[in-house]
Amino acid sequence: TKGPYEHYMLKEIHEQPALVDKLAAFYIKNEGRKELDSLKGFKAPAWHLTACGTAWHAGLVIKNYFEQINRQRADVDIASEFRYREPILNKGEVGLFISQSGETADTLACQELCKEKGIETFSIVNTEGSTLFRNSDKNFLIHAGVEIGVASTKAFTLQALTGYLMSRAMEGTLDDPKLFSEIQLLSNRIGELCAQSDSLKEVAEKIYTKKGFIFTGRGKYFPIALEGALKLKEIAYVHAEGYAAGELKHGPIALIDENIVNIAVVGPELLEKTVSNVEEVKARRGIMVVVGPKNSPEIEHLADAYIPLDFNGLPNLSPLYVNVALQFLAYHIAKLKGTDIDKPRNLAKSVTVE
Ligand code: M6R
Repeated sequence: TKGPYEHYMLKEIHEQPALVDKLAAFYIKNEGRKELDSLKGFKAPAWHLTACGTAWHAGLVIKNYFEQINRQRADVDIASEFRYREPILNKGEVGLFISQSGETADTLACQELCKEKGIETFSIVNTEGSTLFRNSDKNFLIHAGVEIGVASTKAFTLQALTGYLMSRAMEGTLDDPKLFSEIQLLSNRIGELCAQSDSLKEVAEKIYTKKGFIFTGRGKYFPIALEGALKLKEIAYVHAEGYAAGELKHGPIALIDENIVNIAVVGPELLEKTVSNVEEVKARRGIMVVVGPKNSPEIEHLADAYIPLDFNGLPNLSPLYVNVALQFLAYHIAKLKGTDIDKPRNLAKSVTVE
């Protein structure tokens, strides 16, 4: 049941802090540990990450972990592209498939392709016993419980977190006490967002009548810009695009006028680079919403709405935290528009045909 929540999506967003804690305990301290320990020192010449929709965005987050923490090559593909582009797959490489349902047709076809080429297949999956689960050489379950909302929320967070834990397992640092506390901090910060969701509602009230939304992010926040846009378009039926912040002036800036909102996701890392982006949007009368570090007067005063977040202590996990703010924003905008949030039109929870 939905319990006290108006929608399953809202309930599932609120479940995240507890699920994050549970997953960390499972993989670091309890039964899941042996599965992760099997990755200790593991090195593949290349990883091929494949998924659809939100799971693909989780793949983009995980790619960054494998490359930056493990210095291992990781390619990420949309499953419907990978299956037809004759990918180069060599012995020793690994296919990693990410899926909530474990039944997405395109993702399963990619797994088949990897198997035909004789490479190992691993999964990050929610549904135990699903086709993907049954056909994989190794499974890393995300233990999200049933996700009912068609718009995926908790599955994204737990997929990305599982990928992070795999990366730390390969690195051999699962016993680093800082890892556990970093994940606890993530869960606390998501909890704080859940408690302050009303402030995100106020931002939604300012912008929900606008015509189009461009989400921008750099580096580790680029996948979050894509995911924020997907969530909004799915449930609020408005045009929303995710862009790498540096690409703004290579095209999308042509769209900016008083009916367009730019939602910029900004970490403390490249703050000053974003200031000029914000100025460019404002100069064209665009509406600027910035999701960024708290106490950043240099950018706060430029924005029409500022969503202050506490990035401290989350060098690797901040994308997962920031994403929850965008989940709430999409939810509140959709609610103001009166759409069917849990079952948006034209969408199925799991896409089992091509
Ligand atoms: O079950 P899967 O994770 O394989 O599903 C993949 C996508 O269909 C799914 O993430 C879809 O994009 C969601 N509706 C996003 O909210």
